[in-house]
Amino acid sequence: MKHARLRQKARRLGTILIQYESSSLERRRACKNGENSILSRMARLWRKIHSRQLILVVLICTGPQLATADATLERGTYLVTGPAGCGNCHTPMGPDGFVEGMELAGRLVDDSPAFTATAPNLTPSGAIAGWSDVELARAIREGIRPDGSVLGPPMPITLYRGLSDDDLMSMVMYLRQLDAVDNDPGTSTYRIELPPAYGPPLDSVASIPQGVRACHTIT
Ligand code: HEC
Repeated sequence: MKHARLRQKARRLGTILIQYESSSLERRRACKNGENSILSRMARLWRKIHSRQLILVVLICTGPQLATADATLERGTYLVTGPAGCGNCHTPMGPDGFVEGMELAGRLVDDSPAFTATAPNLTPSGAIAGWSDVELARAIREGIRPDGSVLGPPMPITLYRGLSDDDLMSMVMYLRQLDAVDNDPGTSTYRIELPPAYGPPLDSVASIPQGVRACHTIT
């Protein structure tokens, strides 16, 4: 195994191997963004203790990663502006339909006894601009914001939970390249209890294999 070999090599070199295994989504993000502050703190401490010894610090990111090799802006454009229907709720509407030049800038979607639902601004002027791609992806597919809060209806999370990593990241790519539109549609108020989550955490969803597929026709 790769890790065992690394450990052996470290022993041979007379070094100390500090291994940081990461499997949760947050830690994977840390791995991806290189935010290994825990590691550098540990390394500094070890250097103090073993001042003459060479310290080898290895950040090993284990656990399933988002498989995003095939994510493309083209696919993201198709999904967001087409079948995923994000604009149906997130784009402001006027008397003549969607307001031009305000794509995905947010609007009030529903005001009922159960809730006042406002779809936020998804352009770089909105809150998501401060989220990492993985955080944004998690909000779309699992309905959980970076602060841990859960998105309420009618954001169709149960539908989006089936998005593959590639499709999800393609959509993130599309959102990131939108023009910033200054618009504050306000926030939602839910007078119903929201679920703690829409299902177990989703580490990775594989793409549907390309190629010939069998179709059943019911006659
Ligand atoms: C049927 C309406 C609807 C559709 C379709 C919809 N959303 Fe939403 N979305 C909402 C509402 C309403 C909220 C606010 C929920 C809340 O306040 O808890 C929301 C919240 C969000 C948030 C959280 C943003 C923040 O600042 O907190 C993101 C991200 C998001 N939607 C992305 C998307 C994307 C991407 C799509 C298309 C794949 C999409 N939404 C489709 C209604 C919708």
